[in-house]
Amino acid sequence: MNVDYPTLTAVIESLAEGETDEVALMATVACEVHHSDARFDWTGFYRVTAPGMLKIGPYQGGHGCLVIPFDRGVCGAAARTGEVQIVDDVEAFPGHIACSSTTRSEIVLPVWGRDGRLIGVFDIDSDRPAAFTQKDAEGLASVLRSVFGRI
Ligand code: SME
Repeated sequence: MNVDYPTLTAVIESLAEGETDEVALMATVACEVHHSDARFDWTGFYRVTAPGMLKIGPYQGGHGCLVIPFDRGVCGAAARTGEVQIVDDVEAFPGHIACSSTTRSEIVLPVWGRDGRLIGVFDIDSDRPAAFTQKDAEGLASVLRSVFGRI
């Protein structure tokens, strides 16, 4: 399945218009992205709440770990390197944090605020192997840029 990212971005931009509260924006993005594709089984944010530390934010799906240090998991790798992580097989990723035994693949993007401030990471997990492509990375990065790049 393919997400129509330009349309998704436009919908989210209109919902988010005028809002600057990070949590309100994250809740809206998590909801809209999660329901845009059946590949997405867990969709949500981890926020930087202390140096080197991520704490769970708004999400859709089953429960997630509450705290992830930068040196752990796929989320930690995205926060630490500032680079998008696409993992085709979570079992082959050293240090992957298994919150759901059904997760097979995932994508994690860093979330940047204005002036290059790292706000957190955006994590999508799929029960399907190799569910994510470079197209998803680009489309999701544009959603995140349009919402968080201005706050
Ligand atoms: N994707 C995470 C763990 C899963 S969450 O707690 C939903 C990782 O960084 O390994």
